[in-house]
Amino acid sequence: DSEARERGDLAGIRVLVTAGGTREPIDPVRYLGNRSSGRQGIAIAVAAADRGAEVVLLAANVDGEVLAEVAQDPAVRIVPVSTTAELDSTAHAAAKGARVVVMAAAVADYRVAEVADRKIRKEDAPGEAPTLTLVENPDILVSLVRERQDNQVIVGFAAETVDDEDELLERGRRKLARKGVDLLAVNAVGWNEGFESHENDVRVLDIDGDVVAAVAGSKREVADALLDAVRDELDLADS
Ligand code: CTP
Ligand code: CA
Repeated sequence: DSEARERGDLAGIRVLVTAGGTREPIDPVRYLGNRSSGRQGIAIAVAAADRGAEVVLLAANVDGEVLAEVAQDPAVRIVPVSTTAELDSTAHAAAKGARVVVMAAAVADYRVAEVADRKIRKEDAPGEAPTLTLVENPDILVSLVRERQDNQVIVGFAAETVDDEDELLERGRRKLARKGVDLLAVNAVGWNEGFESHENDVRVLDIDGDVVAAVAGSKREVADALLDAVRDELDLADS
């Protein structure tokens, strides 16, 4: 989008975007994962680059086909990651030089306590279903907020299963307060809603819990609306 690139309202700004979903290994051939395609995060990376930003994209298990959209963009440095632990360490390292952090990745909340180093075989315990013991993963976003750099703008995402818009906003406000982020983008998800799609329907909440953007459209349109809200936060921080 050359018009936006010309607008350049994020020129020289370093933006860290995380996208996709982390996976936690069970054994060498199996994992616990989630349905995030990474498309919304990729759209944010592309939009930020188009607006002049220098982007680091931490891509957690994003399909090559989805990544192809940014692979040729010289303004986007892609770092592939898989587990939450990998995303945690790369995100902390990359956040040090970033003015803006957008945590669009779906992070596995739990990992398997003891990863088997060989494939779990039915033959080894016939008729007995194994029990997986899980342990909680660190909250990357909370720790990034705790270590926030000067004037850094930090954005979270929340996909919620809700009955209506009021519940979406209420859950969003609670999560925003719990995480301490500057902006939280919330959207409703369900069995048939919000995944593997090229469209999204998002509300962006600011620190006061006010809805600063409401946008239903392509993931690119959502990305630009979110970056408009980020731009406003940067202006506030600079003023
Ligand atoms: N997040 C994170 N580290 C985690 C879990 C979540 O950084 N271990 C980030 C996500 O990238 C997202 C935001 O926190 O930007 C909200 O994620 P979400 O899963 O909605 O929040 P949780 O605190 O895990 O709450 P829930 O129990 O609703 O899953
Ligand atoms: Ca979670």
